[in-house]
Amino acid sequence: MAVSDQVNAEVSSLRDEINTHNHRYYVLDDPQITDQAYDRLYRKLQAIEQQHPELYSTESPTQRVGSPPATHFKTVEHRMPMLSLDNAFDEGEMHAFEKRLLDKLGLGDQALHYTAEPKLDGLALSLLYQQGKLVRAATRGDGKSGEDITANARTLPSIPLRLFGSKVPSGIEIRGEVYMEHAGFAELNDEQRNIGGKVFANPRNAAAGSLRLLDSRITATRPLTFCSFGIGWLEGYDLPDSQYQRMSLLRSIGIPVSAYIERVEGVQGCLDYYQRILAQRDSLAFDIDGVVFKLDDTTQQALAGNVAKAPRWAVAYKFPAQEVMTRLIGVDFQVGRTGALTPVARLEPVSVGGVKVSNATLHNMDEIHRKDIRIGDMVIVRRAGDVIPEVVAPVVAQRTGELPLPKMPELCPVCRSDVVRQEGQAAYRCSGGLICAAQRKEAIKHFASRKAMDIEGLGDKLVEQMVELGMIQSISDLYHLDLSQLAGLERMAEKSASNLLQALDTSLSTTLARFIFALGIREVGEATAEALALSFGSINEIMQADIEKLQQVDDVGPVVAENIVFFFAQQSNRDIVQNLIKQGIHWPEIEVTESSQKLPLAGLTYVITGTLEGLSRDQAAVLLKAQGAKVSGSVSAKTSAVIAGAKPGSKVSKAEALGVKVLDQAGFESLIKINGVSID
Ligand code: IVH
Repeated sequence: MAVSDQVNAEVSSLRDEINTHNHRYYVLDDPQITDQAYDRLYRKLQAIEQQHPELYSTESPTQRVGSPPATHFKTVEHRMPMLSLDNAFDEGEMHAFEKRLLDKLGLGDQALHYTAEPKLDGLALSLLYQQGKLVRAATRGDGKSGEDITANARTLPSIPLRLFGSKVPSGIEIRGEVYMEHAGFAELNDEQRNIGGKVFANPRNAAAGSLRLLDSRITATRPLTFCSFGIGWLEGYDLPDSQYQRMSLLRSIGIPVSAYIERVEGVQGCLDYYQRILAQRDSLAFDIDGVVFKLDDTTQQALAGNVAKAPRWAVAYKFPAQEVMTRLIGVDFQVGRTGALTPVARLEPVSVGGVKVSNATLHNMDEIHRKDIRIGDMVIVRRAGDVIPEVVAPVVAQRTGELPLPKMPELCPVCRSDVVRQEGQAAYRCSGGLICAAQRKEAIKHFASRKAMDIEGLGDKLVEQMVELGMIQSISDLYHLDLSQLAGLERMAEKSASNLLQALDTSLSTTLARFIFALGIREVGEATAEALALSFGSINEIMQADIEKLQQVDDVGPVVAENIVFFFAQQSNRDIVQNLIKQGIHWPEIEVTESSQKLPLAGLTYVITGTLEGLSRDQAAVLLKAQGAKVSGSVSAKTSAVIAGAKPGSKVSKAEALGVKVLDQAGFESLIKINGVSID
């Protein structure tokens, strides 16, 4: 084979491989390799393509980087109008929706079936594929014509540049929503703040702004995702006459479809689905503003027809709004674990996304000034996912007269130490360190929290009481407490006091990652603590490491490395660690590895549930992670297996429903033993 044939074959196989992994990730929600392994393939392809420009192809997965800026977007007509949806806000309106349909179809009180999906909060996109190739992407615009944003859409990794399989029609227009996940949105806004760029009010605005940039090279850097919700038109293929089956067909030709799509029966089925999705709303990675129901039978859809701009056969049952307006009554300043003073808005109580809110974060003083938020303003408050509520913006149009700007106090509201601001940093801090009761309280609360030492029964109120009474000065004092001291506290009976002592004792058996996280080093979160534990394997090694060595760990940049060195340079912190070790804190040994890539369980994700014999769930997680596996808290189609100890709970039934493997104690033991680890 000539060299160029070989190169050709390699490029084409790399492209296929990368496309397959994209498909597994975005469409099947079931990745088979780690992000790092994916990046390696991608970089390899990129390198060969750079050496052989003659192999350039617009369809290569490397060609999602965008192209030089356009001066404007072309207007394009939609062959079939892009309709909107009618809304329902309560059960009565859902019953009325079904009644209208039954009357229109003349079906009396027969049961109708619906396809149910979450209503993604982004913006609609139309994708045109000809002979399986993406040829055009357009926004909804006014429904009749939109903007041609093909260059931008091509940069989204979840949009296939080519469809595949035997069912690809000669022409198809696919419709769906482009949105931004919470994590990507927060990261984007942080970056925008750092570079003094535009900060977006919510993920929907960020998605819309990013998709409509004239420079697609910038769009390529924005964390946008596409999920399809229907077909505009199609040629050269006979579609099934069920909405649900049509969506399955889309999935089978490589188009992402909601993982939550279901076929439900009657209004009752719709109402149950609504409640199920509402219950998950806060734990989803993205915003949804309701659920959408579509008549499943497409012949019935055609009979029902459209009214004005919306189909009669579909409805959006909306969730309570996640952005509402209320009045800002005042601003308090809260002192955090690291002494940072955060402005907290005191609000006229209001219900946001179904939860009563009377406080919300204002982030920092720069943000208050940039947004020009005044005390007394009407403000927009947003609460989405498990993120704390925030004030998004003032409603300036409703401002009457001069209103005062909030002011940072000169002295700490808790310990009266000076409030200082380090050069170049947004945060103002109390200079009192652990003299400040607020910082002490927060450090101890963090230490005891679920993701840190998980000390059951040591709630926030109790910590506050103990610090106020001077019973504990630092975290290591916790393990000196005795029954009589605890039983003397407010709302503490002897039984709960002895339970707490037991919980403290149990917490001594932990993992190195949890312990590092629990110490509360500035900017060392769970993931960084985990990376430090895996790469150093011992607390002493970490305490002795210099900035350079620390920076060799994935996840640790110069600022975090400096924070770690600074933390352990304090004798008081070294004493705390030594005291805790003396008091018996311990964790399973970790074998240090060069790179988790080479490990036998790399790329696999496990969920642990129930009680395992001889080790805690955390300890089991350490053993799995030491072999390169990921451990997750919830079961999804991506889960490689669920490890079920005694009394496992609902995760096993969820796994069974999804066809995910379930391993019992023996299965787990052989899994890690095969991979060279022993649990005793
Ligand atoms: S169906 C004819 N399904 O909501 C049917 N729309 O308020 C038209 N949306 O313009 C749309 N998730 O941008 C449908 N699962 C979903 C959706 C969805 C979000 C958006 C879409 C539409 C708007 C209508």
